[in-house]
Amino acid sequence: MPIRIDERLTAIANLVKGGSVADVGCDHGKLGYYLVSTDRADRVIATDISAPSLKKATELAYDNGVAEIMETRLGDGLSPIKSGEVDSVIIAGLGGDVMAEILKSARLDAKKFRHFILSPNTHPEKVRRELLDSNHFISKDFLTECAGKYYTIISTELKEGYKDSLDNEQLLYGKFFTEDKIFLKRSLEEIHTMKNILAMHSSAQLESKIKALEEVLEKVNK
Ligand SMILES: C[S@@+](CC[C@H](N)C(=O)[O-])C[C@H]1O[C@@H](n2cnc3c(N)ncnc32)[C@H](O)[C@@H]1O
Repeated sequence: MPIRIDERLTAIANLVKGGSVADVGCDHGKLGYYLVSTDRADRVIATDISAPSLKKATELAYDNGVAEIMETRLGDGLSPIKSGEVDSVIIAGLGGDVMAEILKSARLDAKKFRHFILSPNTHPEKVRRELLDSNHFISKDFLTECAGKYYTIISTELKEGYKDSLDNEQLLYGKFFTEDKIFLKRSLEEIHTMKNILAMHSSAQLESKIKALEEVLEKVNK
């Protein structure tokens, strides 16, 4: 049965280059099912730390006759996946602090994965900082909009012996923020909201936040 996924998961699915995929923190399992049912992936291993969440993914795979190519495994982060076991690892919808810890723990266990697709809900800078330490080159880093919210999506490639370098603004706003039209849109909205608040209550902190963001926007190609 075909499945519809939202714009955020579609943007993530579009970054998969075929082969095998691990979907870490799969919850409902819709992304994994979408990938195998549309032939975007040959095989998916969907994992979750929560047994009730994983049960939803397992049932989705069985009910739709794809359990042979969509396996489910219970466990924390990348612990259920062996080094190099899949071509791509997706981690989406988790906080950036948890995601950075998952990546760090895999790195300390000397696990290597060729391709990460990461979509942290919060603290993307923590994820980017960890990627710099794990020899992953950030090839795509953009915001996507879905149901009125903005989501960071980062795609990386393993490059042995290589260390990507990002300045502080790239760590905070994305490697390619100067070219990202959705970053521009979100920032203008944030400035507009902050100015509305400022019109009602004076706040030196808010004023300096607006000034800082306006300075960042001067670097964005309009
Ligand atoms: C908000 S859902 C995101 C589901 C899906 N990835 C998406 O983006 O729509 C977060 C899922 O991550 C799982 N999770 C949280 N911490 C985890 C960890 N350390 N390892 C594996 N799964 C985790 C939760 O149990 C939950 O099912």
